[in-house]
Amino acid sequence: ASSDGAGSERTLAIVKPDGVWSNHAEEIKKIVLASGFSILQEKTVQLDEESAASFYSEHSKKKFFRSLVQYMISGPVLVMVLEKENAIADWRMLIGPTDSNKAKITHPRSIRTMCGTDAEKNCVHGSDSDQSAQREISFFFSSETPGGTVMGHDEL
Ligand code: PPS
Repeated sequence: ASSDGAGSERTLAIVKPDGVWSNHAEEIKKIVLASGFSILQEKTVQLDEESAASFYSEHSKKKFFRSLVQYMISGPVLVMVLEKENAIADWRMLIGPTDSNKAKITHPRSIRTMCGTDAEKNCVHGSDSDQSAQREISFFFSSETPGGTVMGHDEL
């Protein structure tokens, strides 16, 4: 998603329930900032089932869908809009492959290696394309929060 800075791009990052619950959110934010991203907006949200299902609707036919939705509502998530040049690809690079078990082998320094467990409990999310980034940022940060309870809200 474009922004005012020349060449800069925005992506949506989520610290998932396992990451929040295991107290990795602050450490992840430090890595984010040290890697040159600006955190434009952030909030902690307890998603409800309907909104989690809507966020992951493109996966609704997958076998893991119900389990993924239950996991994503199992506790609060920290949602952030990150900005930097090449933010979408760079954030995906930093978090590593979807399956944390694979990340541990192929990307030992990735965030999913640090705090994820498997393909479901993988600690963090990153938008996979410019189109997804735009959809996901407005999903969480347009006028009203979709079906969830905002537990903390910082406009940075
Ligand atoms: S796929 O099938 O290639 O589209 O899946 P992928 O892009 O790798 O993952 C999409 C999101 O689904 C989650 N996922 C799973 N959840 C539970 N169980 C299993 N087996 C599983 N496999 C993938 C995965 O964590 C992705 O979540 P996000 O938040 O998009 O990273």
